[in-house]
Amino acid sequence: MTESTIAPAEVGHVACIGAGVIGGGWVAHFLARGYRVTAWDPADDAAEKLHRLVELAWPALTELGLAEGASRENLTVAATLEDAVAEAEFVQESAPEDLDLKRDLLARIDAATPAGVVISSSTSGFTMTEMQDRCPTPQRLVVGHPFNPPYLIPLVEVVGGESTEDWAVRWASEFFEVAGKSVITMDREVPGFIANRLQEAIWREALHMVANGEATVEQIDASITEGPGLRWPLFGPCLTFHLAGGEGGMAHMLDHFGPSLKAPWTRLEAPELTSELRDRMVDGCEEASGGRPIPELVAERDQAVIAVMRAMQQVRGTR
Ligand SMILES: NC(=O)c1ccc[n+]([C@@H]2O[C@H](COP(=O)([O-])OP(=O)(O)OC[C@H]3O[C@@H](n4cnc5c(N)ncnc54)[C@H](O)[C@@H]3O)[C@@H](O)[C@H]2O)c1
Repeated sequence: MTESTIAPAEVGHVACIGAGVIGGGWVAHFLARGYRVTAWDPADDAAEKLHRLVELAWPALTELGLAEGASRENLTVAATLEDAVAEAEFVQESAPEDLDLKRDLLARIDAATPAGVVISSSTSGFTMTEMQDRCPTPQRLVVGHPFNPPYLIPLVEVVGGESTEDWAVRWASEFFEVAGKSVITMDREVPGFIANRLQEAIWREALHMVANGEATVEQIDASITEGPGLRWPLFGPCLTFHLAGGEGGMAHMLDHFGPSLKAPWTRLEAPELTSELRDRMVDGCEEASGGRPIPELVAERDQAVIAVMRAMQQVRGTR
């Protein structure tokens, strides 16, 4: 299959198939970034719900700053899927998380979308390899996994399936960047991608703790919002623990707490802390921090925690 003839930066018209929480969020995002959007959703009340969702999102999007030419008037709700994608230069599918439904739907979208146009799925956890097998031209299908609400949370995880061609993954990643998202391009398929696997580990442990009477819902939420959650906006879990190692960084942290990986602190089993894994973590932190010295990172983290705490006080004060 030939590569897309349109450059990611030249896209002006996108189609959103499925317009619930996520599809509607995508619509709001694309409208705010100045795109013309055509949406389709088979539910009888879909158009009404979609307009309500966009209305609700618009004040936040306006506060963040709309792109030149951005307008809610640029939204069209199509009568059929085929009409929705007929002139699309990019398609985002956000139908329910049902494998059989997605396989059929993506095949229909693929059959109706102009050649070379990239088609992306919002799936939370199916691999594109599982979903693309009924498509006539599976080479252009990718996963573009967003976070709720897609009009505010920047991350999109992009990954292709076995039949996806590299150009489509590159094109989609570049397009999402141009469209104002933060992109992680994965070079292999993993169920749940990266962020959902991490979220899910915490979520499952939380459910275990509630089921066993070990903690209440309120305690679990407070343990994150008053604890580690305050540090994560700036540094993720790896650089956060890099600083937990003091001047010795991640190397000291792993040497010090390595034996705790065998302790029953979570129901998720830890991998063997081999010297190879240790080195990968230590080198990864060096790379992720750009080799900056620990005291500099500590000062930045402290500033970020203060900024987040102040922002939270402001939001809570308005309740
Ligand atoms: N909700 C989240 O936090 C979240 C986050 C990331 C990804 N996702 C993924 O996004 C997708 C949509 O999830 P959601 O939360 O928006 O669900 P939702 O139930 O809010 O919306 C799904 C929409 O799809 C429509 N629909 C039903 N059958 C359809 C079909 N055959 N073709 C097109 N549309 C159809 C429904 O009418 C509904 O409006 C799922 O794949 C989900 O896993 C969800």
